[in-house]
Amino acid sequence: MRRVMRRVMRRTLGGLAGLWLMLGAAAALGDELPRIGVLVYNGNDTFISHVSASIEKAAEGRARILFRDSHNSQILQNEQVGQLLADGVDAMIVNAVDRTSAIYLIRMVAPYGIPIVFNNREPLLEDLLEYGKAFYVGNNPKESGQMCGELIARYVREHPETLGEDQTLQYVMLKGEPGHQDAELRTVYSIKALKDAGIQLERLQETSAMWERSIAQEKMAGFIASYGNRIECVISNNDEMALGAIEALKAAGYFSDGRTIPVVGVDATDAAREALLEGTLLGTVLNNAEAQGNAALSLALLLMEGELSEDDFPYPLDHKPYLWIPSETVTRTEVEASDPV
Ligand code: GAL
Repeated sequence: MRRVMRRVMRRTLGGLAGLWLMLGAAAALGDELPRIGVLVYNGNDTFISHVSASIEKAAEGRARILFRDSHNSQILQNEQVGQLLADGVDAMIVNAVDRTSAIYLIRMVAPYGIPIVFNNREPLLEDLLEYGKAFYVGNNPKESGQMCGELIARYVREHPETLGEDQTLQYVMLKGEPGHQDAELRTVYSIKALKDAGIQLERLQETSAMWERSIAQEKMAGFIASYGNRIECVISNNDEMALGAIEALKAAGYFSDGRTIPVVGVDATDAAREALLEGTLLGTVLNNAEAQGNAALSLALLLMEGELSEDDFPYPLDHKPYLWIPSETVTRTEVEASDPV
């Protein structure tokens, strides 16, 4: 009842309703579970749909989720946040369309005193610090980028012929959305890991395929047409784009008759795991959708009750207000071990 009353009081923030109105509305609202608004930048994104499913699962019996798909429009997302606030939600989990808009959303939410937990698209530190109930949950892109580079470095060590006569690795980089921290930092850190491993590099192409399989497939087909077998490896910021590249490579005769090329991605989606078993994808890095969804929901619920204490929370808080869920390298070996065929 206290929670319902709080919600009703927030609803009337800026309004003129009296106590009798609050009591009536509280009775009408009925259930006691906290209501959490969950907004995603684009419901069609494969990885994001896994995170949404895990939030939904984590919420069972603990919260009622109100999902909103922002269809890649920050303007729409701002409106959705405004509407959810007017509806009196108790907390918000936001996968921002444009991470630089976080400050705007924080300032919308702060007067209501409810938590806002961002996920997947990382706000700037100074923005999060404006409000004690603003947090971020996601993957550390430096770590996942580095692991991608290490996967390729290990492959080159085991297959030195990959480098060809010039002893240089000619690579293609498929980037996610420009400006997204996971796209920018995974790119930089995968290359850094290769350089740190002492591998000489030549970038043939670097392009954004916006996290999407079909765009990557089309771009990769163009690169194969231009560079042919000068391409010695493909580094992709996520699995969907890696799978698009693999489609283009297959169409050009790769992955049959012993013709192969190392391709790496990030996320460890189900489709990527299949590609690992098929032997087309060399490796990927776990972007842990389940843990991220669970952590975002638990964090939102804890922050609703007050200050966050390290004892209450099973995830690493040493970079507060950022909460990075650890990455893990996933290759065919790990998939076979976890899911023996
Ligand atoms: C990344 C993920 C991509 C895509 C993107 C959306 O973390 O690796 O596959 O989902 O987030 O923001």
